[in-house]
Amino acid sequence: MPSQRTVFVGISELVQPLDSSAGNREPLSIVRDAAMVCHAGMIEAVGTRKSVLDSLDSSDVLEVDLQGRAVIPGFVDSHTHVVFAGDRIDEMAARARGETYESIAKRGGGIARSVELLRASSVEDLVAASLPRVVSMTARGTTTIEIKSGYGLTPEHELKQLQAIKRLRSLTKATLLPTVLAHGVPKDAPNRDAYIDQFCSDVVEQAARLGLARYCDIFVESIAYSKSEARRIAECAKASGLKLKLHVDQLRDGDGADFAAELGALSADHLECTNAAGAAALAKANVIATLLPGCALYLGGHTWPDGKALADAGCEIAIATDCNPGSSMISDLGLCATLGATQCGLTVEQALWAITRGGAKALGLHDRGGLRVGERADFVVVAHSDWRMALYHPGGNTISSIYVSGSLLS
Ligand code: NIG
Ligand code: FE
Repeated sequence: MPSQRTVFVGISELVQPLDSSAGNREPLSIVRDAAMVCHAGMIEAVGTRKSVLDSLDSSDVLEVDLQGRAVIPGFVDSHTHVVFAGDRIDEMAARARGETYESIAKRGGGIARSVELLRASSVEDLVAASLPRVVSMTARGTTTIEIKSGYGLTPEHELKQLQAIKRLRSLTKATLLPTVLAHGVPKDAPNRDAYIDQFCSDVVEQAARLGLARYCDIFVESIAYSKSEARRIAECAKASGLKLKLHVDQLRDGDGADFAAELGALSADHLECTNAAGAAALAKANVIATLLPGCALYLGGHTWPDGKALADAGCEIAIATDCNPGSSMISDLGLCATLGATQCGLTVEQALWAITRGGAKALGLHDRGGLRVGERADFVVVAHSDWRMALYHPGGNTISSIYVSGSLLS
């Protein structure tokens, strides 16, 4: 973290997502001809070039000229499964020949396949396999990444997956935030209730005690946990001091959004099949509605989440990659924002909000995503004077540089 004060000038437009996006189709504030001062990893001053330079003591300040480029906040990916073992390339090929995600799962592939592969791996194997994926995320502008367990299922292997996430934290400048995920009951568990009791005490409580998780997520779906089972895990998570996130309404409408509102979750994620009453309940309970459009892109034949209906109901929207080996092998959060705007009915302003301030809110973070004074100096310099270039050309050379805590990501 540089202790020297740095002033960034030559910023064509600096995008500050508003604190709230509720009911707003354009939840961004844009400062033209801007400057920003960073010190000790944080934003110390930001505004028009004139106002910032007028009040700056210019001795001992390093000046960086961004030469007419736009600046946007570093992206916050609030939902990933990026730590996993092996791959499921054959499943993508099978889907292209006509098999479905569900039929592959029924014949022993899917999540069960990733569980087998993870159980055969060491912490070191997991770190070595996952680090390049984290690097591919940060190289596309993501500076904060939530990462879930959920491919171990037994206490030994869930904690091993969380240990790998902890190890990765020292290998990247990005912030990595761990979540313990209750992903489903293993097929060989003799008794569901006993399994859930053990998962609560030996995985959820233990992960919280060891500081290996900050959030708890539960996959609420007919193929995973019922609502009454999820309620038990959620109560244990809350009592352990973990914040709650839920996978709901992905494969069918199970009134999962209402359930997330009732439990007071931080975010409800997926929502491909959520009904209007569920959207209203999320808005009323201030639960962040997290869209994962990478799944529809990747699986084909699946429903796009209706971002417009959720936003019009008053929800605040986050977009995340859901990066995982089965349903969304995608590490480019900017691409997911583009899908938010082209496929899910959001405006480009709402889509950028969703991968910055929205992602931060879905993680309960108040120190990033808005490029305000006092926030972390995590930002992306767009290779264009118009910030929208970042969403316009997915996969293109749209990023000029990325700063984390005020220093250049190499
Ligand atoms: O978010 N929904 C559950 N879990 C993941 C998929 C995991 C996998 O297929 O490996 C998801 O889509
Ligand atoms: Fe997921």
